[in-house]
Amino acid sequence: LEDLVNMQQTNLWCLPENYQLKYYFYHILSWPQLLFVAENEQGEIVGYVLAKMEEDAEVLHGHITSLAVKKTYRKLGLATRLMRCSQRQMAAVFQAEYVSLHVRKSNKAAFHLYTETLGYDIHDIEAKYYADGEDAYDMRNYFTDKEKAAGKPEQAEPEPEAER
Ligand code: ACO
Repeated sequence: LEDLVNMQQTNLWCLPENYQLKYYFYHILSWPQLLFVAENEQGEIVGYVLAKMEEDAEVLHGHITSLAVKKTYRKLGLATRLMRCSQRQMAAVFQAEYVSLHVRKSNKAAFHLYTETLGYDIHDIEAKYYADGEDAYDMRNYFTDKEKAAGKPEQAEPEPEAER
């Protein structure tokens, strides 16, 4: 919880899509398993992933609300690690079928991360999704059964029937 203000600050530095602090609280109170931060050696937040579950959707899935890494800490693999941490929890804790996200068509760095590094596919294009009129790629990455099974408890031996 004490990291939320600095997550918000990092978001303000890095992206034009910003949210009120209460939206960060909503995420951490609802799905604390899905939020991660990257810190430097001084303990300052240099990257974050803000994620949620889409529980009312036809198919249960996770959604990446926002991801960013501060400029001087980019291309070190931090975003990849943040994304993998959150995705692993979506599959293992919530048995999500897939993870979705929106990204600007012009965002080459993020598009490379999602398609080449993490294996997302373009599901759809949402015209004028962003406030400035830019289109978004609506992207998805499906989880494997192995990823979903990682969070399930071992199958317990059945109890012997009680004697009457
Ligand atoms: N151009 C091309 N490829 C790039 C670039 C770039 N500018 N930056 C990173 N990559 C590649 C890396 O080489 C790496 O590829 P590889 O796995 O093939 O070697 C891959 O992307 C992942 O690199 P990371 O080091 O894990 O990514 P990084 O920590 O630099 O963060 C991010 C990437 C989050 C996109 C960062 O550039 C950033 O914060 N940008 C501004 C905010 C932003 O665009 N956030 C995403 C918006 S979409 C959303 O929030 C759902």
